[in-house]
Amino acid sequence: MTVPDDSGEQPREQERDARGRKVTTRSLSTLKARGQRITALTAYDFLLAQLIDQAGVDVILVGDSAGMVVQGLDTTVSVTMDQMVYHATVVARGVERALVVADLPFMSYQVNADEALRNAGRMIQTAGVEAVKLEGGARLAPTIRRIVDVGIPVMGHLGLTPQSIHKFGTYQVRATTVEEADELRRDARALQDAGCFALVVEKVPAELAREVSQSLSIPVIGIGAGAGCDGQILVTADMLGLYTRFHPRFVRRYGELGRAISDCLRRYAADVRSGEFPSPGESY
Ligand code: KIV
Repeated sequence: MTVPDDSGEQPREQERDARGRKVTTRSLSTLKARGQRITALTAYDFLLAQLIDQAGVDVILVGDSAGMVVQGLDTTVSVTMDQMVYHATVVARGVERALVVADLPFMSYQVNADEALRNAGRMIQTAGVEAVKLEGGARLAPTIRRIVDVGIPVMGHLGLTPQSIHKFGTYQVRATTVEEADELRRDARALQDAGCFALVVEKVPAELAREVSQSLSIPVIGIGAGAGCDGQILVTADMLGLYTRFHPRFVRRYGELGRAISDCLRRYAADVRSGEFPSPGESY
């Protein structure tokens, strides 16, 4: 682990000195102030977390999208606190530079602020992440205040909030009406006022996301929210072409690793069956 820099000066990956200074909530706000875009990706295990960190990505989110990507579920709704603590623990172990944020899963923060605080504290103390994320707007402001007050950084999540999928019944673009757009503006302001250090805004019109990003002092990280946000996040398994059940148009595929892995696995099976593997050089 590198030593944090008191000055708040956190150079970009390209400009980083040999120490590779740690990304903090403070350095994210410095990036926003300088107009430098924040990079973020999800991880659920040590191996990928290490690769993402070494690539110089600023924020690693231990997303409850683990429910879909790792567990093969249709939604994130049944992901538990124990499962998230496990994922967060192994991710944190693989990261030196990036800020590690973990999702609080559905029903771990909605019942009351005491329970939310206990679960946020467990995530920080047991798993070793540096911040938590939760979904929802102004209604959650008192809970967020409570968590932030004890020194735990909170990231908000507005727009498409997958934990509420059964309420909305669809993964379509959010905040497309005047009323919904106004509600999103109010929610964003309420979360900032409650002490969130950053927001994720998912699947909303690009112009609205740009306006919200410009109107807030905290960074807004978009997913399916256009280029006007202060940063971008994607589900890593989506952008690597590993999770292919569906392909939203906001996902740019940087690789087809699912196909590459299938090819390796088939070649291995064929080599074992034909006796081509292991060779004498691979034997003792
Ligand atoms: O769970 C997750 O992966 C997320 C991202 C989509 C932002 O919340």
